[in-house]
Amino acid sequence: MTPGSGRQVGKTILDRIGSTPLVRLDRLTAHQPGVQILGKAEWVNPGGSVKDRAASSIVTAAQTAGQLPPGKILLDATSGNTGIAYAMLGAAQGFPVNLCMPSNVSAERKRILEAYGAKVVWTDPADGSDGAIRVARKLAAEHPEKYFYADQYGNENNWRAHYHGTANEIWEQTEGKITHFVASLGTSGTFMGTTRRLRELNPKIKCISMQPDSPFHGLEGLKHMATAIVPPIYDPKLADWNIYMATERAYAMAKWLARNEGLLVGISSAAAVAASLEIAEGEAAAHREAVVVTILCDSADKYLSEHFWSDPIAADDVLVERLSTNHASVAGSTLD
Ligand SMILES: Cc1ncc(COP(=O)(O)O)c(C=O)c1O
Repeated sequence: MTPGSGRQVGKTILDRIGSTPLVRLDRLTAHQPGVQILGKAEWVNPGGSVKDRAASSIVTAAQTAGQLPPGKILLDATSGNTGIAYAMLGAAQGFPVNLCMPSNVSAERKRILEAYGAKVVWTDPADGSDGAIRVARKLAAEHPEKYFYADQYGNENNWRAHYHGTANEIWEQTEGKITHFVASLGTSGTFMGTTRRLRELNPKIKCISMQPDSPFHGLEGLKHMATAIVPPIYDPKLADWNIYMATERAYAMAKWLARNEGLLVGISSAAAVAASLEIAEGEAAAHREAVVVTILCDSADKYLSEHFWSDPIAADDVLVERLSTNHASVAGSTLD
């Protein structure tokens, strides 16, 4: 094709959002015939996380409704990934982005947002992600003419991204064989949207949500719903059941996945895999076949400065013990 012939080649960065691969975690269930765990590799999205889907859905709907005209600033509270996604979209499409974030987010996140040119209002780390939400709400209420408040926690276009995208991709990629869906809860958009659509496709699919087991946790991006500002889009009744996850277990799984599956995933992804393993082991014990699909929200890139990667894994960690026993026969399996 010659330049100027009217046809365009290649894709824009925004066309690359979604259609992420499913990765088989075969070594994790090597000792359990009949069960399979599959992770959706969301770090392949151009902004590096699952939140590209929600952010682009929110932005596209706002643009269509005329809520983001030239001169208006997109404003939202975020613990990181949604902010990165907005910043990428704003840079690519030419609208300014202001984010409210706790000031203790990792240095990597700060650098990424700076690189995209987003402005950040730093909030008190002691107030966590709820503190950032309160500041964003206040700014939006005080300056409605200045901001389009994207409100990812209350915006229905968040979960719709997963209803129209993530769920259908999973259905097609597993050829309809998915039996269980496991996802973590932050805004809850991923779990809500994917679950709603999967249930339409096959009401027998079990959908399991996962959240931190305490208000003070290291599962970045996730909310302990009992003590947090509950996202307006969250409906707990949608889950068949919920798993509470300890941060230490997620750390142990993150290391295990890096060293045994060759997968460098983020902490919430590792937590989701640990929850999926609980489901898979339960099904295997009951002599049932299962295809468990979970969401690997982002890669380890933004968490590499965390100490747990080099800390010795606690010898009494239940997960480590279980994996040690189960994987004694898997060649080269390593835990520390
Ligand atoms: C790393 C990470 N994992 C999980 C989630 C939760 O996704 P959702 O907001 O769709 O519940 C988020 C949300 O920001 C996240 O950043």
